[in-house]
Amino acid sequence: MESNVDISVEFAGLKLANPVFTASGTCGYADELAEFTDVDSLGGFITKSITAKPRMGNPVPRIVETDSGMLNAIGLANIGLDKFIEEKLPLLQKMKPAVFVNVAGETIEEYVTVVNKLSSEQAIAGFELNISCPNVKKGGITFGTDPVQVKDITSAVKAASGQKILIVKLSPNVTDISVIARAAVEAGADALSLVNTFTAMVIDIERQRPVLANRTGGLSGPAIKPIAVYMVNKVYNEVTKETKVPILGGGGIRNASDAVEFILAGATAVAVGTWNFIIPDCAKKIIGGIEDYCRRKDVSNIKELVGAAG
Ligand SMILES: Cc1cc2nc3c(=O)[nH]c(=O)nc-3n(C[C@H](O)[C@H](O)[C@H](O)COP(=O)(O)O)c2cc1C
Repeated sequence: MESNVDISVEFAGLKLANPVFTASGTCGYADELAEFTDVDSLGGFITKSITAKPRMGNPVPRIVETDSGMLNAIGLANIGLDKFIEEKLPLLQKMKPAVFVNVAGETIEEYVTVVNKLSSEQAIAGFELNISCPNVKKGGITFGTDPVQVKDITSAVKAASGQKILIVKLSPNVTDISVIARAAVEAGADALSLVNTFTAMVIDIERQRPVLANRTGGLSGPAIKPIAVYMVNKVYNEVTKETKVPILGGGGIRNASDAVEFILAGATAVAVGTWNFIIPDCAKKIIGGIEDYCRRKDVSNIKELVGAAG
């Protein structure tokens, strides 16, 4: 007889069926993914970044593959807040997973505008604050690399988000990620998400120019996983273990073993990004794989694994 395993998690006061999310920008607004997988099997779903006004994003080429990952310089292309409410929210309202809207902007006021307008939407569990996009000239990563700005933006958005959960998404492009994590927690973040992509470059040696029109892009996928695991573990030990703020960990997750690594490092939940492009059904497989791992290791409740690597 198979033993019962509880893989439900409590995430910032919210009970989730399992710890697996899809990462922002890799599954659109869920309608794109619905064709390929059972979106309702997820613990959480995070939308593509939304800004107050629509954005065209950066010129092409804005994606390039590498040996063990990809670089993107999409530049926050999105349909804008009004169209999101009109066209995308109705589907998100019907979804079982906790839905988080990823919010981006060029100024604190822009973030606050988006969050204000969505803060009373029943369909939304909360917001993921993207202060870590490496591919835009104004806003983006500049908010996420300075602890003073992190505090300012987190407290302003927290005040606008009402009862909703606020996840602050951290950039790995910093000297000490714990300093930024602490600033976000002190300013009221309910959860932290780490990591966003690593700034990187690929050069076309025939043209002797960078491949991406933006010159640089954000590296994601398997190449970044060990660094992301390290950063989750560092923030867990230095900031969140004591404050009990949950971490949504990710970066290069392909399978259940990768997800378990992040949980052992200190993540309460995990986000799967780039691998959705390779295997659109991978998040669902990861959920089953985590259950199998718990059975194999005689773990009755997944909570026992959070931070267990020490
Ligand atoms: C094509 C692409 C688009 C992305 N767009 C966003 C975005 O709009 N907002 C955001 O916060 N992160 C965005 N990300 C970052 C991912 O959510 C994730 O944090 C990162 O890719 C690391 O995880 P992974 O290695 O599993 O992809 C994007 C990543 C990719 C590959």
